[in-house]
Amino acid sequence: MNKNIYIETYGCQMNVADSETVAAIMQSSNFTPVTKIGEADVVIINTCSVRDNAEQKIWHRLDFFKGLKRRKKHLKVGIIGCMAQRVADKLLEHEAVDFVAGPDAYRSLPELVNEADIEVNHINTYFDIEETYSGIVQYKNGENAISGFVPITRGCNNFCSYCIVPYTRGRERSSSYNDIINEVADLRDKGYKEITLLGQNVNSYYFEDDNKMVDFPTLIKMVAETAPEMRIRFTTSHPKDISDSLIEAIAQYDNICNHIHLPVQSGSNKVLKLMNRKYTREWYLERIEKIKSTIPNCGLSSDIFCGFSEETETEFQETLDLMNIVEYDSAFLFKYSVRPDTAASKTLVDDVSETEKVARLNRLIALQNQISLKKNKADIGKTLEVLIEGFSKRSKDFLFGRTQQNKVVVFPDANFKVGSFINVKITDASSATLKGIPKI
Ligand code: 5AD
Ligand code: SF4
Repeated sequence: MNKNIYIETYGCQMNVADSETVAAIMQSSNFTPVTKIGEADVVIINTCSVRDNAEQKIWHRLDFFKGLKRRKKHLKVGIIGCMAQRVADKLLEHEAVDFVAGPDAYRSLPELVNEADIEVNHINTYFDIEETYSGIVQYKNGENAISGFVPITRGCNNFCSYCIVPYTRGRERSSSYNDIINEVADLRDKGYKEITLLGQNVNSYYFEDDNKMVDFPTLIKMVAETAPEMRIRFTTSHPKDISDSLIEAIAQYDNICNHIHLPVQSGSNKVLKLMNRKYTREWYLERIEKIKSTIPNCGLSSDIFCGFSEETETEFQETLDLMNIVEYDSAFLFKYSVRPDTAASKTLVDDVSETEKVARLNRLIALQNQISLKKNKADIGKTLEVLIEGFSKRSKDFLFGRTQQNKVVVFPDANFKVGSFINVKITDASSATLKGIPKI
């Protein structure tokens, strides 16, 4: 019998892409992806473990599903993603959960769902170092046929001391460049306008076969040439692997977006060392200088978190100082959350109080808002190319889109087509958005 499946996604863009892979796997086994929970026979929750509050959100969500299952007796609920890998047994003990699959086990999901009625072990959390989901064309529900994700690496070998990812997603592996180029060509032929190459550490991409050795700069050029009319983005990059040849490739190709997301995490050398980030503040700032001098108008963004073990007020101020030097257009800001099994959890003391973490986080946010406002105001008067993504949330008379630098622009609609590129003259700016008038 054909069953409807609803997938709920938490966490990073990699999880969004993985949910599309899972939808494709399920669809080829006679499940129909649906967009409303009410229509589902099976719900799959794709989870994140990066901070404790991400996991708490899922436990609360499971209490909701426990209630729903009382009313809808045949409903099956499964957990996938990083949390599924980390706490599989504990999840399966929850009344709402019928099956659990880790990030390398998604091909077995149809089987796990079908077995969920019988008394067997419904867990698959085996790591498969070979698994890149090669040959699976991601399922797109057609709602956003503008931007598509193409995963190029999975897993991570960096072992930053605070990070759970190497334990939930296993070792790093790269997809074959042929698979990647085929996926890009497929999205191009389907009319997509933008592609984001994804990986926990995209710029350490490396694939070798009998014909070629392909690193990330080589790959991104191949992608840019395969889809010259499309915008190419990539995330996330590790500062240690941001090479001159990558920076030069971005400058050289008009369709590789002038935007680099380069998480610094901290501005203090002592903290970076404790984090096992493998670069110094000086190295990072030199890379930023190289980017600024090679790619004029390059959008820059970062991930930063405060309150890591042994971070003093002075070291925290070094982070604020670095933010003032780089002047990121935007940043994701967090406070440290100890993750079980990581090196930091075993060898360092979580010695910054919660009150102090919250106070530092508020200072990070206040400073970044100030910098974002300054950077956005500097765009007033410029004419920028915008890819139209949809209607503004506030009013149907306005559309919104993004610049190459990944800034959101809101402008009045005059029968423009979603998915088309237009030039917008920027007339106003807040810390979060630009406003403008289309130039026709
Ligand atoms: N606590 C707080 N933030 C974290 N991040 C990763 N691990 C932790 C943690 N244990 C942040 C980093 C990373 C982003 C995805 O989440 O900034 O780049
Ligand atoms: Fe969360 Fe990291 Fe896993 Fe993505 S890879 S889902 S951010 S823990």
